[in-house]
Amino acid sequence: MPDVTDQIIERTPLVAGNWKMFKLRGEARAFAHALAAGLDQVDEVDLAICPPLTCLADVAAILAPLGVGVLAQTAHQAASGAFTGEVSMSMLVDAGATGVLLGHSERRALYGESDGALAEKVPAALAAGLEPILCVGESEAERDAGVTEERLAEQVRHGLAGVASSLASDVVIAYEPVWAIGTGRTATPAIAQAAHAHIRAVLEELFGAAADEMRILYGGSVKPANAAELFAGPDVDGALVGGASLAVGDLLAIAAGALAR
Ligand code: PGA
Repeated sequence: MPDVTDQIIERTPLVAGNWKMFKLRGEARAFAHALAAGLDQVDEVDLAICPPLTCLADVAAILAPLGVGVLAQTAHQAASGAFTGEVSMSMLVDAGATGVLLGHSERRALYGESDGALAEKVPAALAAGLEPILCVGESEAERDAGVTEERLAEQVRHGLAGVASSLASDVVIAYEPVWAIGTGRTATPAIAQAAHAHIRAVLEELFGAAADEMRILYGGSVKPANAAELFAGPDVDGALVGGASLAVGDLLAIAAGALAR
């Protein structure tokens, strides 16, 4: 039997742009065409866009056939039901989505997306054939109180409680320290790598060797100027980008930063 511990797992970097509540359909289509034209510059990096729901189908029609992921920014765990304003995983598939962002800190803080709901949402996404990106991250107060590692472990364990090891490699984790989101304050490469290594150790407890195949993205004020140094961390497998993902050139420049790994 080959010694699997000696195998080097190559994880393809993933750069995902979270547009949040920005862009009308025409703007989204123009962005998608411009991104399509620039894809050959970064063909060794996986790319994904998380557009608002109103333009998800437009973006998916242009980019999904080219292999770019198109993710919703949240979804409900139930297959259907009386949940006004919500959208199910199968509705997202129907609209052309390939994945879904779950547990973003803005959803957790502003809309009460809880670890308990996420424990149902991640398996529901996988069952529908969607790639989930589960976001985790500590607040500034938690970091100052020295409970970052506990908080990250708790979020990862809850969010992935219903995921079988055989499907673990289909899940992406995004480490986004809440104090770095939209603030211009980026974690240093050392802080990011330490958090990612900790998250991977928790994933190993849960899934064993499959943890090595799981991608862990960093998010929080990622820009073209700091992307390459963040991606240098061996457990930093890409980025979840907010503000800088609104301009095609910036998103491509960040993806180019991953090529140098
Ligand atoms: P930011 O957002 O890049 O604007 O900090 C990151 C995110 O919220 O995913």
